[in-house]
Parts: sequence; structure tokens; C-alpha cells
Amino acid sequence: MAKNIAVIGTGYVGLVSSVGLADFGNIVTGVDLRADIVDTLNSGRPTIYEIGLDSYLQRNIEAERLHFTTNGDDTIAAADIVFVAVGTPPKEDGHADLSQIEGVARQIAANLTGYKVIVTKSTVPVGTNRRIQQIIATESGQTPGRGFSVVSNPEFLREGKAVQDFFHPDRIVLGYEDERAREYMEDVYRALYLIQTPFVWCNLETAELIKYASNAFLATKITFINQMANLAEATGADIHTIAKSMGMDGRISPKFLHPGPGYGGSCFPKDTKAVAATGDEYGVDMSLIKEVIRGNDRQKTITAGKLVKLMGGSPAGKTVAVLGLAFKAETDDVRESPAIEIVQELLREGATVRAFDPEGIENFRSAVIGEGPFGGGLNSDLREKIAEAAAERLHYCTDEFNALDGADALIIVTEWNVFRNLDLDRAALLMTGRVIFDARNVLDPEHAREKGFTYAGVGRV
Ligand code: UGA
Repeated sequence: MAKNIAVIGTGYVGLVSSVGLADFGNIVTGVDLRADIVDTLNSGRPTIYEIGLDSYLQRNIEAERLHFTTNGDDTIAAADIVFVAVGTPPKEDGHADLSQIEGVARQIAANLTGYKVIVTKSTVPVGTNRRIQQIIATESGQTPGRGFSVVSNPEFLREGKAVQDFFHPDRIVLGYEDERAREYMEDVYRALYLIQTPFVWCNLETAELIKYASNAFLATKITFINQMANLAEATGADIHTIAKSMGMDGRISPKFLHPGPGYGGSCFPKDTKAVAATGDEYGVDMSLIKEVIRGNDRQKTITAGKLVKLMGGSPAGKTVAVLGLAFKAETDDVRESPAIEIVQELLREGATVRAFDPEGIENFRSAVIGEGPFGGGLNSDLREKIAEAAAERLHYCTDEFNALDGADALIIVTEWNVFRNLDLDRAALLMTGRVIFDARNVLDPEHAREKGFTYAGVGRV
């Protein structure tokens, strides 16, 4: 039977889940504190860039299965199931900030009009679902499993492929404690049950840790191949042939073995830090993951350093075209994007930057102006200097050719398809210099050299 669902938070996870759950036939109300977001969504316009999201959003609004509101209290009171999808940003010490989650738990307790299942979609440290259960029990006076149930249902969607991932997940993980909650969740996901999606039923703590273990492992795989690529480069080997051959071993798999400028995004950096912090808290050695975090930071610096070296040791007074600002292709998200560090380094060293991204320019621009990721980790003096340099020497371009106009060098930071097919004849006509650093290995090195460029990729000669 279709359920009446409240989804608290309309970020990536919350919005895609709202739309997907409505498409499964449930009646869904998405809740956000911001009235402008709610208005935009109710008018059928997505607030994030995700392939296919707009049509699913419009279709479900029209079918009256989906709408958005700022009124959390009434929405929770009317719901059978409350999905929690609010943010868990990292604090200074690496721990996830759970204040939003705890606030929602209190709000649920205050609106617990009857039995409800509370489902945590946000990525939360081990023990958080137990804590949510405790807050709701204490504040509402209800017993877990009777007045309400808590379910941990971590999300594995990838930005850029979020809609596809929601409808075709590799698995659905459900941490639960009682049969009634399990029956509710089976109803919610009946559509996926029917297409034989694997369901993993486990306890709350296991579900929470599955999510961290998965992200930490993928981050480890990327850092491993990045370091191997650096070694391949130093020794004259080819990382693509290495990765491909490694991947032929079914135990390894070829996925997530693409070297690059380091992983970014809102998940891997945050989740690796959180799992390391949890290890410290429990006195458990998480040295591997800690080294992955350091290795990834170094990869961003190594990338910027390689470009500078290719340009003869200093980019001062020169112009660099930076193609790709988002942390990966098919998203407008620039959070923890390697492009931030690379652009900062170029500006710091006196270069002029001509930047272009098919979707991420606006986010990058606000990151530069505001207190966003551009300033993250820098002292205020340095931040000010970079902001000043950015105002004078950072130009946002209308397309890739506009970015190449008058450039001494080109760096490709994000693997957008449009950069894979870059017309190098036109590039040669527009650029004043001949340096290409392909930090994603999207171009054919031989072709680039034939066209007269000094080409360098990652882990290949
Ligand atoms: C990641 C996971 O893939 C999802 O399963 C998970 O749900 C999500 O985090 C989350 O925790 O919510 P996402 O951050 O969207 O998804 O991006 P990925 O496609 O995993 O890429 C992450 C970073 O790794 C990107 O910067 C990407 O460029 C980089 N990467 C990925 C590589 O450098 N090499 C690879 O081979 C693969």
C-alpha cells in the first residue's frame, strides 16, 4: 500500500529521494526551511542539476503525488514515514556535525501523532540512529518499536547519475529493529522489490557502517591508482594498461581505477574524515584511511605543481585556460573540487586564469566570492590575497574556445565529454602557447603531439 511520506531536507539526497519515492506511487511532501527553494521546486524547476530530474519532478507534481513546503510540523504529523535527509557537514575535528539531524529528531518527537517510521537517509556516523531513537523516545515518551521505529537506509547515489541510481540501485541497505518497520519499508520500496533489487536487512550500526566502508574503500581505490599513476609516470609505464589489466582480475574490478587530480565532492572527503574520527573515538586504528586523506590532498598539490613545471617553472604573467571546475563531469557541484586548489595556486603564482565549466561556473563564482570552499583551509590573509587576485586575474568564459583564447597553457581538470572531443586545430589557432596538461587523460596524447602541443597526462608517457 502506498505510504504518506515526509522527506526532511531537499538537497541532493532529499530531492532525488522525494521525486523517486513519489514515482513509486507514494504521496510525498518535501520539507525545506528555505521558502525560495520550496517555491522553485513547486513550480517544477529542480534546484540542482541532475539528468532527468526535471521531468520526474514535473510528472509527479502534476500527478499530485509530490509537493514541497516549509511547514515541517504539519507534514510530519500527517506522515506514516519520515525520511531524514538533512546535511551532516564535517566539523573542524573531522566529526560530522549532527545538529541538524538532532533538531529534526526533536521536531519529529513533537509531532508524533501516531506510529511512524523514521528513516535516516543522511550519511551519519555509527550510533546516530540509536541517538535519534533515544531523542525521540525521551522527548515524546513513546517506546521504540511501538510508538515509532527508526530505520537506517543509507543512500548510494552518485551525483550526475542520481536519478538513474535511485531507480536502479545495486542494493538497498536497511538497518532495522522490528517487523512493523520492515513491512513499512517493503511497501515503500515495492517497485524495487519487483525488479529484484538486492535488499540487505541488518542492524542499525551495520547499515551505518556499510555506507562509510563503501565510500572509504572507493576513495582508497582512487588514491591507490593515483599513486600508482605517479609511479608509472616516473618509471615510463602506462597506467591505463596497468589499470585495465588489474581490472581483468574479477577480484579487483576495473571500476574506480581512473587516475586524476584527486577525488572531490561532498561525500568522499567528508566521509573519509568522519570514519577516521570514529576510529579515533573508539581507539581503533584507521591509519589506512588517514593516509588516503593525506594522499588525496597531496594529489591536488602534485597536479598543480606538474602544470607549473610544464610551463617552465613559473606561470607568473602567463595565461592558463582551466577547463572543468566541477569536481567531476555531469554535475554543477564544485565542493572540494581539485579545480579550486589548482586555480588558487595559479593565481597565487601570478598567472591569469581563463576558466570554463559547462555547469559549474556559478557555483565556482560564489565559492570565490563567499566563504565557500574556495577559502577553506586558508588563513584570512591568504584568502584575501586570492580573492583580490581572483577579481583581477580570474575570468569566467562562455565556452571552451573562449577560455583558450590567448592562453599559454591548458589544463583539463574535469572529464566533461565536450573536452574529450576538443578541436585541437582550433585550439592551436586560439592559444598563444602550446602546453596541455590533461589531468583526466581524456585526450589522445599522440594526436595532441601531432598537432604540435607539448602534452602531459597522468601516469602515461
Ligand atoms: C560517491 C559514491 O560514488 C556514491 O555511491 C555515494 O552515494 C556518494 O558518494 C555519497 O556518499 O553520497 P559522488 O561523490 O557523487 O558519489 O561521486 P563519485 O562518482 O563517486 O566520484 C567522487 C570523486 O572521485 C570525483 O571527484 C571523481 O572525479 C573521483 N574519481 C572517481 C576518480 O578520480 N577516479 C575514479 O576512478 C572514480
